[in-house]
Amino acid sequence: MAINIAIDGPAGAGKSTIAKKVAKQLGFIYVDTGAMYRAIALYMLRNAVDTEEEVEKHVKHANVEIAYQNGEQQVLLNKENVSGLIRTEEVGKMASFVAKIGEVRKQLLDLQRNLAKKENVIMDGRDIGTHVLPKADVKIYLTASASERANRRYKELCEKGIECNLQEIENAIIARDEQDMKREIAPLKQAEDAVLVDSSDMTIDEVISTIITIVKKNTKACE
Ligand code: DC
Repeated sequence: MAINIAIDGPAGAGKSTIAKKVAKQLGFIYVDTGAMYRAIALYMLRNAVDTEEEVEKHVKHANVEIAYQNGEQQVLLNKENVSGLIRTEEVGKMASFVAKIGEVRKQLLDLQRNLAKKENVIMDGRDIGTHVLPKADVKIYLTASASERANRRYKELCEKGIECNLQEIENAIIARDEQDMKREIAPLKQAEDAVLVDSSDMTIDEVISTIITIVKKNTKACE
């Protein structure tokens, strides 16, 4: 039986950075479900679809598939590799919007569950422990304060030479948390059986070793 690790948490908590590294250490496959919502968001942006009704109508034409290239997840949208196009703030905001819509979530659920059936995976998202993989062997809820998440994002953008405003970044993070936590279908919340990891005052290495310890306690993955 495949081992499944679920990592949920708000935007900017470091889920993908951490999950990628943990996956490498354990020899697991990393599945980034946010990228799937982002691919659907890109489709809607390209087609100027911006209401819930229209998204419901168009979503069946946005076929999302996952492939792996040198161990890195690639997202295909109608056979086009869009991995390099989905990391913008615009696409992230639209992803949070389309993620509220039942038809969108339904379309991605089977893809996510099928990946986890076949392989040992560490899957990150918002509803993995609560909805996608309710029987996951290990569930982590990774969070950090909004100001710390904003600080990290600010530094990241500054390092890339992108001009930005810390307060605006924090406001966007808070708005995204609201939208992801308050939606009706599969909102972001900590699963009852998830372990809470607050990374506000932790280094990346500390978070990784904390998570590996939790995984070791709960599975035979590292024996
Ligand atoms: O993790 P991310 O920023 O790439 O996710 C983009 C959006 O997708 C996020 O704001 C909410 C949505 N999402 C979701 O609703 N459920 C998931 N399992 C993953 C992402």
